[in-house]
Amino acid sequence: MEFEGRDITSIEDFTREEIDHILKTAKIMEPIAAKGSDLLHGKILANIFFEPSTRTRLSFEAAMLKLGGNAIGFADAENTSVKKGENLADTIRTVENYADIIALRHPLEGAAKLAAEFAKIPIINAGSGAEEHPTQAFVDLYTIQKEKGKIDGLKIALIGDLRYGRTVHSLAYALSFYNIELTLVSPESLRIRREVLHAIQNKIPVSETQNLEKTLAQTDVLYVTRIQKERFPDQAEYAKVKGIYRIDLKTLANTKKDLTILHPLPRIDEIAPEVDATPQACYFQQVHNGVLVRMALLALVLGSVK
Ligand code: CP
Repeated sequence: MEFEGRDITSIEDFTREEIDHILKTAKIMEPIAAKGSDLLHGKILANIFFEPSTRTRLSFEAAMLKLGGNAIGFADAENTSVKKGENLADTIRTVENYADIIALRHPLEGAAKLAAEFAKIPIINAGSGAEEHPTQAFVDLYTIQKEKGKIDGLKIALIGDLRYGRTVHSLAYALSFYNIELTLVSPESLRIRREVLHAIQNKIPVSETQNLEKTLAQTDVLYVTRIQKERFPDQAEYAKVKGIYRIDLKTLANTKKDLTILHPLPRIDEIAPEVDATPQACYFQQVHNGVLVRMALLALVLGSVK
């Protein structure tokens, strides 16, 4: 198992053994995050974000600072030489002179893989269009394991925009390494991409439905997602599915008492604020875990832990 110098562009590049090792390393990071350390002293992370982000960019930055390293980068390509016409390859070949590792968010699918082809330093995919968001999947798995004490044996439902939501693609690939049952709940127009379904359905039991109520009573982990308005080619299609699912206290009346509710965030209206105070709501723990998991990934890829 070798992590040093490796790109993280897709969950599909990892084995279960490697994913479990990342989760174990994130656990080791809990006391280190509380105290700080100099494990990555002298190392620089470049966060280059061509799309908006709150959690991913700031948690990567916080993770690097907690490990004693530094972070540079941009959150708005409009203020960079991209505005003058510089392409992604040249941007990467420039930024790699200033940093040891790059976290890239980009609206185009394949952008992280393209960047990795040009870069001499590791590239971490921090979200590539509607395609993948692998570090979020590690965060999601870590949170499931922490909240439920295990991943194997669970009944997990992914609900919402399974077509344009990149986090569910990475999470579905990741969950297919575990002994779980997966239910995919979405409107017909937002069913999960066929290539993701084909990749996972030979490995784990998967069912698709539009009916959340039928699924809820059996579910151990409910992973809720936002309808990705910005990725719809036709806003009339968005209007048809806007607000289609909403988790509120009434919904929770029909669930297991120890249900775990996750959401990669940001949320719009798919989880009512009244749910936040329930013991089932774990999405802000997910945010906290984002720092631990990204500390683990940075430390592993930069070779300061094995
Ligand atoms: N979960 C997630 O990717 O959030 P941000 O878009 O705020 O980074």
